[in-house]
Amino acid sequence: MATCYRNIASLVSPAAAVGELIVITDAAMVVEDGKVTWLGKDSDAPACETEVDLTGRTVIPGFVDSHSHLVFGGERSEEFASRMAGKKYQAGGINSTVAATRNATADELRANTAMLVQELYANGITTFEIKSGYGLDTETEKLSLEIASEFTDEVTFLGAHVVPSGSDPDQYTDLVAGEMLTSIKAKWVDVFCDKGAFSVTQARKVLTAGIAAGLKPRMHANQLSNIGAIALAVELDCASVDHCTFLDDDDIELLRNSNTVATLLPGAEFSTRSAYPQGGKLMKAGVAVAIATDCNPGSSFTTSMAFCIAVAVRDMGFSVDQAIWAATKGGAMALRGSQGLLEVGVKADFVVLDAPNHIYLAYRPGVAIISQTFLQGRKVYERR
Ligand code: NIG
Ligand code: FE
Repeated sequence: MATCYRNIASLVSPAAAVGELIVITDAAMVVEDGKVTWLGKDSDAPACETEVDLTGRTVIPGFVDSHSHLVFGGERSEEFASRMAGKKYQAGGINSTVAATRNATADELRANTAMLVQELYANGITTFEIKSGYGLDTETEKLSLEIASEFTDEVTFLGAHVVPSGSDPDQYTDLVAGEMLTSIKAKWVDVFCDKGAFSVTQARKVLTAGIAAGLKPRMHANQLSNIGAIALAVELDCASVDHCTFLDDDDIELLRNSNTVATLLPGAEFSTRSAYPQGGKLMKAGVAVAIATDCNPGSSFTTSMAFCIAVAVRDMGFSVDQAIWAATKGGAMALRGSQGLLEVGVKADFVVLDAPNHIYLAYRPGVAIISQTFLQGRKVYERR
């Protein structure tokens, strides 16, 4: 049965050109069998069995969150408070969540993940990646990935998140690249390559072993320092290198000439009180950029893509259009996928905003303007 969404104030979709949006005002969109079958001016809309009036509202593609850590136990609000009081963020904080995750039952981890997935829908996110990385032993990494795969196909093995307390770094790297990798199932392999986490040599070992096992590479890098990880990400054709807080001009040049997306995580700099990466500069240089939530209990406990967009616009040099492009098409590119746009033939993953245009996503920070979220034409969230 076809449904026509009528009188849409603004219908927005990213253009192929980096950072640009296509906006149709006074629009309509037809959805049938979970796909978009028509869109254009409302005055040209075809007749449909069902019509839904969206006067005064905006329709955008569902956000694509290419970076999240939703499987974990416990929380770290005290650590956040002490950072806001002046303490520096360090990679080692991850180990406290590792202890809580190992202590949780499978049902507790699953229920926490399910609750956060509901939050993603409420925040207009329709495609999302989930990483492991708070188990850091074979059994808990395997369980984390099994739970993640109950919610998404975009499942990432991050056994190399940090060296667990009490382990030797090289021995642990060998465990990740050996026994762990052969025991788990995932689509992607990721490494946190940075000061206090894994060196470039160790990251290379994990990623090449992952690639040999049939996984596709992506990286966490340059969040806390620049130890030369971008060259490795580009050399291994990582789909994405995430954080990119500290980049030099050579890194930008490498990224510009690659298929590797630079994924920026505004929530992480916000919640660790760090300097923001320069997204506008990257886009100007022609680098494909994504914005993701990085939802995790330590460095970025948010599921709000609108919040990330607002911070990117306010503090990272993005225009509003560039930030929305990065949270839709950019996120899809970071997953080497084709989601994040609205055109004839695509899955009807879309969001209705209680706003006359998309600028309101940044213009009304912290205000719940996400009204409805649809996954393949099916409503998965409606704000009461
Ligand atoms: O992406 N950078 C490494 N990993 C996470 C932080 C995880 C944590 O602090 O628990 C991130 O920000
Ligand atoms: Fe992360």
